[in-house]
Amino acid sequence: MESETQVIEIMKDLFFVERGYLNGNHFVYRGTKPVLIDTGYVRDFERTAQAITGLGVDLSSVRLIINTHTHCDHIGGNSSIQERSNCDIALHRVGKYFIDTRDDWSTWWRYYSQEADFFKCTVALEDGDMVAVGPYEFRVIYTPGHAADGIVLYHSGSGVLISSDALWEDDMAAMTLRVEGSRALFFHLESLDKLAALEITTVYPGHGKPFTDVKKAISSARRRVKGFLENREKIGEDQLKKIMVYTLLTHGSVDEALFFEQLMGTFWFRETVDMYFSGEYEAKYDEVMKGLLNRDLVRRRGDHVYSSVKP
Ligand SMILES: [Fe+2]
Repeated sequence: MESETQVIEIMKDLFFVERGYLNGNHFVYRGTKPVLIDTGYVRDFERTAQAITGLGVDLSSVRLIINTHTHCDHIGGNSSIQERSNCDIALHRVGKYFIDTRDDWSTWWRYYSQEADFFKCTVALEDGDMVAVGPYEFRVIYTPGHAADGIVLYHSGSGVLISSDALWEDDMAAMTLRVEGSRALFFHLESLDKLAALEITTVYPGHGKPFTDVKKAISSARRRVKGFLENREKIGEDQLKKIMVYTLLTHGSVDEALFFEQLMGTFWFRETVDMYFSGEYEAKYDEVMKGLLNRDLVRRRGDHVYSSVKP
């Protein structure tokens, strides 16, 4: 089960809710017109709902959900909350297009065999738009790379950046070139350039704790992308590790003898191994699993394996 959820009031009545790796961090603005930014993964909706109501916001009173992109760990609560509140849901216009056209490939849901429900996207955002979160005006900055529909939200008065999966403190979000195309690496670098031009005091990322050393985070992300550009195998390695852990988190735990077969039944596993490691499925699986066990990111319990990563 998920360990304790950390909540920080980042501005009056605007709360940052720190989750884990399966659920993206999210935000709650408490006021007469409540606003949410991102809503976690669908399987943990109960926990998400508790975090929101625990801050004094009734789900039926939510007016607006802003999503930083359409990945499953950021939109999981959307349909339930919209059902109860009939709230608006805002996405970058690329993400709105994915939702409007039921494109569950571009959202990664079908590619990675993830659970997610469609919802009604009512607002299309553009780079440079201002969105009101209660009394706080955030600037929408379009940051494609990790996700074709990715945005971050910047509050210039305080220097707060809600960076989602565009910038993490000491790791970077998975790159899925089979869906996004290889150009995504260059888009990601351009997005980092946009962030480097901002006056930022604190970054509230999509996963992990808030951080203040923005320069360091940006330069390490640039280094990672450059490493990927120099050696494509690194992208495949990174993706296999991250999505194997993610898959374990979505399942809770799986029978070790069946996990490889289960992965072979997904699009992503075969295609990633095809793309970067010329189809050596079992050998690659063994190698990555061994590495995850050695690093204690995956553990054995009886016949089952599970991930030690905070969900
Ligand atoms: Fe993401």
